[in-house]
Amino acid sequence: MIRLATLAATLAALTACATVNAQTRLTIDRSSPIGTIEPEVYGQFLEHLGAQPYGSIWVGEDSDIPNTDGIRDDVFAALNALDIPVIRWPGGCYSDRYQWRDGIGERAVRTNAAWGGTVEPNTFGTHEFFNLAERLGAKTYLNINIGTGTPKEAADWLEYITATKGDRVDERRANGREDPWTIDYLAIGNETWGCGGHITTDYYANTYALYASFAKTEGEQPARIISGSHDENIEYSDSILDHPYIASLAEGISVHVYSLPTGDWGAKGAATGFPEAEWISTIDRALRMEDVITDQVAMIEKHEDLSENFGLYVDEWGTWYDPATEDTPALYQQNTMRDAVIAALNFNIFHSHAERVKMTNIAQMVNVLQAMILTDGAEMVLTPTYHAFEMYKPFQGATALPASYDAGTYSHGDRSIPAISISAAETPDGNLIVGLVNADASASHSVDLGAFGASGFEGRILTADEMDAHNTFSAPDTVTPEPFSVRSGNNGLIATLPPRSVVVLKAIE
Ligand code: AHR
Repeated sequence: MIRLATLAATLAALTACATVNAQTRLTIDRSSPIGTIEPEVYGQFLEHLGAQPYGSIWVGEDSDIPNTDGIRDDVFAALNALDIPVIRWPGGCYSDRYQWRDGIGERAVRTNAAWGGTVEPNTFGTHEFFNLAERLGAKTYLNINIGTGTPKEAADWLEYITATKGDRVDERRANGREDPWTIDYLAIGNETWGCGGHITTDYYANTYALYASFAKTEGEQPARIISGSHDENIEYSDSILDHPYIASLAEGISVHVYSLPTGDWGAKGAATGFPEAEWISTIDRALRMEDVITDQVAMIEKHEDLSENFGLYVDEWGTWYDPATEDTPALYQQNTMRDAVIAALNFNIFHSHAERVKMTNIAQMVNVLQAMILTDGAEMVLTPTYHAFEMYKPFQGATALPASYDAGTYSHGDRSIPAISISAAETPDGNLIVGLVNADASASHSVDLGAFGASGFEGRILTADEMDAHNTFSAPDTVTPEPFSVRSGNNGLIATLPPRSVVVLKAIE
């Protein structure tokens, strides 16, 4: 019985893998570019939460783990290879409890009341964050505390970071930093409809205006970002933008979008060992990003007093699963091929809205939610999501081009979603690049790339035999990019995308 069942399953899998769905031809309209894909679209998020940053990014100078000024060398090198354009810090929900003075000079040990009352040693503070960003060549996105803080505390913090004269410079210098740092982006509040205070839009809009008026830096001002709504909710952000002074005090508004397999916060679904029904449901829920952005942009454009450059900042996005065990650190989750597919689908959506989506920040960088890197003591592993970010690096700063193709359909149970997704762009040095995703769990899909006069395409593919394939400390290369090229054959230039795959290619002459 068992042997027959195994044989049947194997045959079914072989048949499924052998399936190649109808081919589509990709065309691109180079005459009407969508816009520049801001590098910040590939932004990261570092919150004091669970197993981040302590032990994972920050180990301190006295650690046995090799480090430079307290930052782990292995994690730093991996992050550095991503060309991270911007990092948001110190939260999230945590930002509305963060007392910046606890994290400079003599450090204060506190509890992290936002995330389980864990010990917060504050050894990673302002200096450590800005030095890390500086070493990575990343811009800085500071989320100030409007929950338990005051406008004065926020103003003092910004002065401490950016001033060139006065007592705060002396204090900063005494703490080891001569030159001011730059704050590129400033979030004023976080999820004010939830952990950020459960406040009404009226109260928040007034609070926002107050902070935006007094939280100033020396020199060029950062782009100021309103904390907006989440998922399909439009009303919250719409109402804030009605405030009479907002247009002159903000450069953008945020939206948060998380993808849960079940859509139920009480029973989200597992990170690994999930059925195909949860492969497709998680991807289906991630694809809502398209409608969320479309609706948010329409809402922004309804407000005629906002500038043409007013941006949408998706400053939290990603997958969110149930913890593996009761002892799992807060929001720590494994990361599989499903996460890489979801990351790349989101990239393609962000590119297609390049004119308004100025920044996005995946939640989060190390050991939290859809992380780039997982650590345990001295061990470190790169996740499939890390590889998706690394493969898509050529899109940073490229010009997004409208792409036409037939996405086909992938169905499982009573759900159907587009099987493939393609994004095309031209790099500043004139190269045509394409990012292709096959979200189908069991069938290949083919794309004809013959419309561009290229002799071929070359790049890399990320794929895996299992839906929940993932990297572990003992098997770190289970999901890792491999070379992938497309050469002219009898049928032309055909890229056959295997099931569960992410491919990034560059056209060659
Ligand atoms: O990313 C984890 C948490 O999710 C953030 O702190 C909060 O803003 C959101 O609810």
